[in-house]
Amino acid sequence: MKSQEKAFFTFLLFLLVCLVKVKSDVLTVHVGDDAVLHCSHSIEHFALLTWKVNFLNQSSCFMSTSNLGTQANCSSRMQLVIDKNQTSLRINNSMVLDDGNYTCEIAKRSGTFDYMITLQILAKPFVSIKIDGNGYPECRAIGGKPAAKISWTPESYKVKTWNNAEQNGTTTVISSYNTSNGPEVTCIVSHPTLANPLERRLSSLALSSGANNVTLILGVIIVLVLLLGLILVWRRANLRTCLGVKKDRPATRENPVVVMEEVEPYASFTVKVNTIYNSTYDLAEYKGAQ
Ligand SMILES: *[C@@H]1O[C@H](CO)[C@@H](O)[C@H](O)[C@H]1NC(C)=O
Ligand SMILES: *[C@@H]1O[C@H](CO)[C@@H](O)[C@H](O)[C@H]1NC(C)=O
Ligand SMILES: *[C@@H]1O[C@H](CO)[C@@H](O)[C@H](O)[C@H]1NC(C)=O
Ligand SMILES: *[C@@H]1O[C@H](CO)[C@@H](O)[C@H](O)[C@H]1NC(C)=O
Ligand SMILES: *[C@@H]1O[C@H](CO)[C@@H](O)[C@H](O)[C@H]1NC(C)=O
Ligand SMILES: *[C@@H]1O[C@H](CO)[C@@H](O)[C@H](O)[C@H]1NC(C)=O
Ligand SMILES: *[C@@H]1O[C@H](CO)[C@@H](O)[C@H](O)[C@H]1NC(C)=O
Repeated sequence: MKSQEKAFFTFLLFLLVCLVKVKSDVLTVHVGDDAVLHCSHSIEHFALLTWKVNFLNQSSCFMSTSNLGTQANCSSRMQLVIDKNQTSLRINNSMVLDDGNYTCEIAKRSGTFDYMITLQILAKPFVSIKIDGNGYPECRAIGGKPAAKISWTPESYKVKTWNNAEQNGTTTVISSYNTSNGPEVTCIVSHPTLANPLERRLSSLALSSGANNVTLILGVIIVLVLLLGLILVWRRANLRTCLGVKKDRPATRENPVVVMEEVEPYASFTVKVNTIYNSTYDLAEYKGAQ
């Protein structure tokens, strides 16, 4: 008994929340929900009743009825409803492109009355954060209606934000933080479909691994050079063991000579520069080094 009552009230609440939220002559509906637009005028003794729709994308359609019959060129999801002295327009499974102005027009012997309702369709954006191709944090609010608002903490003057219009009438907002400094960045997305702004965090770990491509390339190069050196040393050692006793080969002797030639210009250069303030000390050191 009690659980049945509970279920009933939950269902009522669901209907209230999901179906219609009338605010004077603006109706706001979440995409996919059903919408019912009520005409405020009585249709008692009407001669011609017409619903005219002006969509946000500049196209239009109409539905009309009189004792001569019914005419319509709107979507098949839209239905003209007559209930006693009232009329409404019912939209099943509302879509983003249904957004627009809906006007009921009632022609009577006493005159023509019309009433306009603006239908606003809301679509919740899908939010993602990643490192873009340039190594910067990038936040996206995909397929929102209206367009979402994106902000960052810590704030930066280097933030770039732009909008892309999607085919289905929604907007994708892309925001690039364009700086990889700082231990952590947070992208904050606000939208009418969100009770609280959504936050997406990116830690310094993800930033440094994704951002510092130069460091990565340098690291790879250093490892490769070290590996090459190791291979050379190993091959030399192998040659020596293969050839056995030949320790005084010219090749092994050549090496120290080359090293000396490399060291010599550097050493003399150091001496020349340092003589300016302390010649004796450096000379002594130079001799000692030799
Ligand atoms: C809907 O009506 C409002 C108020 O008259 C107007 O500003 C707006 O441009 C109209 N929109 C469309 C799609 O006709
Ligand atoms: C419906 O008919 C009206 C008037 O003939 C026209 O302006 C409008 O473009 C038509 N809409 C569609 C969706 O065919
Ligand atoms: C819309 O849905 C209601 C309830 O599911 C149904 O009775 C009605 O026929 C549907 N209207 C259209 C135009 O599909
Ligand atoms: C329509 O409204 C009139 C008065 O405004 C009332 O007399 C009549 O009964 C109503 N018709 C219906 C079907 O509700
Ligand atoms: C505009 O929106 C209407 C209603 O959804 C749709 O039928 C029509 O194809 C759209 N027109 C364009 C040019 O996108
Ligand atoms: C609109 O298109 C975007 C991008 O293709 C998609 O992510 C989104 O889910 C679509 N939204 C609706 C309501 O169809
Ligand atoms: C990031 O900012 C720098 C200078 O502030 C600019 O040169 C560069 O084009 C920006 N990069 C992107 C992806 O916006």
